[in-house]
Amino acid sequence: MAAAAPGDEIGARAMAMIADLARHTDEPGRLTRLYLSPAHRACADATAALMRDAGLAVSEDALGTIVGRREGPTPDAPTLMIGSHIDSVVNAGIYDGPLGVVCGILAADLLRNESLPFALEILAFGDEENVRFPTSLASSSALAGHFKPEWLEGRDAGGTSLREALLAFGGDPEGIAAIARDPARTLGYLEVHIEQGPVLEARDLAVGVVTAINGATRARCTVEGMAGHAGTVPMGMRQDALAATAEMIALVERAGTAARDAVATVGVCEVEPGALNVIPARTRFTLDIRAPDDAVRAALVEEIVSGCRAIAERRGVTFAEERFMDQAATAMDERLAAALETGAARAGEATIRLPSGAGHDAVATARLCPSAMLFVRCAGGISHNPAESIDAADAGAAVRTLVEAVRVLGQGAGG
Ligand code: GLV
Ligand code: MN
Ligand code: MN
Repeated sequence: MAAAAPGDEIGARAMAMIADLARHTDEPGRLTRLYLSPAHRACADATAALMRDAGLAVSEDALGTIVGRREGPTPDAPTLMIGSHIDSVVNAGIYDGPLGVVCGILAADLLRNESLPFALEILAFGDEENVRFPTSLASSSALAGHFKPEWLEGRDAGGTSLREALLAFGGDPEGIAAIARDPARTLGYLEVHIEQGPVLEARDLAVGVVTAINGATRARCTVEGMAGHAGTVPMGMRQDALAATAEMIALVERAGTAARDAVATVGVCEVEPGALNVIPARTRFTLDIRAPDDAVRAALVEEIVSGCRAIAERRGVTFAEERFMDQAATAMDERLAAALETGAARAGEATIRLPSGAGHDAVATARLCPSAMLFVRCAGGISHNPAESIDAADAGAAVRTLVEAVRVLGQGAGG
């Protein structure tokens, strides 16, 4: 790789690297790359190769996070981390996650002949989307020492446990505790990510600096009714789990709309037995509830859960809820955010500050070290959708901002 390149060329390199990683999918014809799947394995290996090309020493931690490291000037120098994730949602866009990993790799490449007063690490996390297992930012949480051992026993839709999948991937369930970093030796964490919203595009800006990440609650819910013959059981004598669930979903939308700045989503709903002529016996659905204000979110969760219980009682079905995420809103670190802002200015980019509605690995790293994020404009604010799209020039602006921000932090750390 070249040591320096003009902005357009850097952007083009970023786009080519992201397109290359996007070849690794579990589903032909669309991008789905779930944690610890064969596509994740292939993408992790491809990411490791990109890191080696950038002059980084590559290792893989016990949960499959790929780490590209350049040592600091002394063995006790602290580490500045730059990262994002390489897992995806189902039928994903190609930028959510890989953009941040690739920007970090290119920044390390561009800085490779410059001395820095800290070690630099680029991280490619594997479990940000939390689509496959009932986990919560498992791979980045482990870095902060917050991996919950019971997550290993959580199972995917096919019945495979995280422990089994990790072993098949080449990971090490016994080595997870050792992933935790020493906060005293960790300078901070920077993450570049597509905005996944429309604000930067509306303001005609390539990049923006994140103020805080919204809090989130997630749960898996089960409604149990009774199967019956769709032709013979009179309407008033049914315990239809799906009809009850429909009322619950309407409540989720109504309550989410009424709560200030909140959003509430049922993204998965499975019906059993799922036959045209059988009254539904059981549903399983998910809840994803987010807000910038933790008190607003807590009240909304309570309203939805107690409302679902009331609907179940009235309809003679049962409602059970298993909460697997209750994440407070996370403020970004002011010093690192200011470094990103100065970095953008030095790269010739105007910025604004904006909050993040989506969750990110920076939520987990903020429990370990100062953390900050740079958002990159995306077309139409579209994300979690194969139509996700960014400009090469904006990717170049993000890399140059990151390089300058690392230099700013280097000057600060160097005195
Ligand atoms: C991660 O993409 C999220 O769901 O916020
Ligand atoms: Mn993401
Ligand atoms: Mn995502």
